Amino acid sequence: MSLFELEWLGGEAEQVFRRHRGDRVDAFDWALDTTGVSDEDRDAQRITWTRSAHLEWCAAGAFATLQQAMLVARAPVDLIGMSGRFLADEMVHVELACRMAAAWGGGAPLEVDPAALGPRPDPTLDALPAACALAIRTSCVGETFSQPMLAHARSKATGLAHAVLDRIVRDETPHARLGWLLLDWAAPRLSAADRVRLAEEASDAIAALRDTDAPVDLRERVLLKRVVEPLRRRGIAVAA
Ligand SMILES: [Fe+2]
Ligand SMILES: [Fe+2]
Repeated sequence: MSLFELEWLGGEAEQVFRRHRGDRVDAFDWALDTTGVSDEDRDAQRITWTRSAHLEWCAAGAFATLQQAMLVARAPVDLIGMSGRFLADEMVHVELACRMAAAWGGGAPLEVDPAALGPRPDPTLDALPAACALAIRTSCVGETFSQPMLAHARSKATGLAHAVLDRIVRDETPHARLGWLLLDWAAPRLSAADRVRLAEEASDAIAALRDTDAPVDLRERVLLKRVVEPLRRRGIAVAA
């Protein structure tokens, strides 16, 4: 375990990254007025945004693992190419969350396992079902779920937090689509046993989301309509 601390290189790396990120982020009003906010509430914001930065960091790790698995499984060139920018997208989200923590007074100390970066490929599976299993966890469940949850958080937010959440939400639709596109391409090549295994992966990933503090009816509606039913339509008979 080690403290979650991040570095920024600047110069050439920043220039290339900024071309991907766009300049709108720098135009946000980052000087947050926190007068009248209690120390407790300020610390709660610092903790929330530091945790968000770490979750975004792990999302980048999950996509890196999924990309590797799609390469091994010889997924279509354009589909892998589509996912290429996702790492940079997630680094934008890391940057935004870090800047929000800084605006609230600085990142909170957070101990993390640096090697724990989201799902790992299952070595007992062949390349294609292994890639599909990762796609289900990361994209069909994780990103598909987080998009409406972030949109909900945005609807409650104002000012800087609204601008930041709005910037993040925009990237999540293609992040969620990737998994569904991979499943549709892979469908004719998956065996009945693969589908059973994928349903188990999905159930497991869905169960983990039930620990989140999202409003229960929104959470259950999103899981049923956007995750469970689309998986069932693809022959992956996940339990609700
Ligand atoms: Fe993200
Ligand atoms: Fe994402």
